[in-house]
Amino acid sequence: MAKIKENGKKSSLILCRTSQEVIDRGIPVITRGEGCHVFDQEGNAYLDLVSGVTRPVHVGYGRKELAQAIMDQALELPYFTPMFFTNPRALELSEVLSGLTPDKIDNFLFVCDGSEAVETAMKLAKQYHSYKGEKQRFKVISRRGAYHGVTSLALRALGTALPMRHSMEPLAPGSVFVESPYCFRCPLRLKYPDCEIACAEDVRRIIEFEGPDQISCFIGEPMQQGFGALAPPPEYWPIIRDICNDFGVLLIIDEIICGFGRTGRWFGIDHFGIQPDLITMAKGISSGYVPLGAVGCTDEVIDPIDTFEHLHTYANHPVACAAGLKNIEIIKDEDLVKRSEEMGRYFLDAIKSLEEHPIVGEVRGNGLWLGIDFTTDKKTRALFPMSRLNSLVDRAYHKGLIIKLMGLALELAPPLIIKKSEIDRGVEILHECINEEAKAI
Ligand SMILES: Cc1ncc(COP(=O)(O)O)c(C=O)c1O
Repeated sequence: MAKIKENGKKSSLILCRTSQEVIDRGIPVITRGEGCHVFDQEGNAYLDLVSGVTRPVHVGYGRKELAQAIMDQALELPYFTPMFFTNPRALELSEVLSGLTPDKIDNFLFVCDGSEAVETAMKLAKQYHSYKGEKQRFKVISRRGAYHGVTSLALRALGTALPMRHSMEPLAPGSVFVESPYCFRCPLRLKYPDCEIACAEDVRRIIEFEGPDQISCFIGEPMQQGFGALAPPPEYWPIIRDICNDFGVLLIIDEIICGFGRTGRWFGIDHFGIQPDLITMAKGISSGYVPLGAVGCTDEVIDPIDTFEHLHTYANHPVACAAGLKNIEIIKDEDLVKRSEEMGRYFLDAIKSLEEHPIVGEVRGNGLWLGIDFTTDKKTRALFPMSRLNSLVDRAYHKGLIIKLMGLALELAPPLIIKKSEIDRGVEILHECINEEAKAI
């Protein structure tokens, strides 16, 4: 990998998931953010419709009160161990989360990011089974198209962005993949609702095949990013919950994107009315101002575990927890969960008409998380060439709009503070780019 050039000089920095070709074209350096906009080193402004691209920045850029809370805590107590001791901010944040997360999720451990949260949830599941006398339960069920992070256990459950998985194989054994509820291009070639949610019902057969006494947990995002902001049919999660109950399999709901208002509810699973055993959180928990992730679980999961054999130096970190507390206070004070629902509806209404466009297959969304699925043939729903989608994202960037690709769709996930005028501007540029791309094909 050749080096990035910054001000004509070579930099020593390594970038994540960025090809040589992209580096050679030149890497923008983003220097500043304000509200829903970011600025590069040349002072160009970009409307950020994906909250920092990996979509954590729920409360927007430049929030002085958040920066102040971080500074105050760093001065008061920057760090103390998560083992044998604790600190006031971690205690407070666990109380606050207990009131916001789904019923019965009342126990929390704070970590540094989403992958660590997933890793920790899987370890809790495994140690829970061990304490219950079922040490042999080690398999993890995930879904094709799922994204749960990149550390070793999380990577086992990765069903999208496959080069990240393939480059690290062989991974530890025990990954079991099932199909996703991707109705627009059903992997089972069925049609909802006549399918009777076969993708969920199938999980029972797969557990029986794998050996029910070997399965530790099922992990899934309440709404899935892999195909572009994809909500399952309403029956999906209740069926999965019942199957997990029948086989003593723990259900981990990965709220790393959906949590903290992204889909118009505090948590994505709130749309489906089921009880998870564990949930994972990151991104919107601190709006990206400091690294923070968390895992939450029920008393049923934590009570049998005498000693959770796990330790990160920066677990339950006081400064990160102070940022989480202030961030949640802002989300509450500014009613950003409701705002996400209302602005999301406005945004979806504004782009729904794109479905009439010859290259747009489906437009979908919940709250401020939306997806535009493209196709070269509306009848067969043929896949849209990846190179064309990349070119669409590039076009938008050159017009001052940051969007991203997810699977074969465009994903939109702006800060929850976005205004109608900013949505209007984003939609105008999107229309232009899609028309230009269609002409170029
Ligand atoms: C649903 C989900 N789970 C896990 C992760 C991993 O989080 P992180 O990148 O913070 O490690 C992500 C990251 O995008 C995610 O979207």
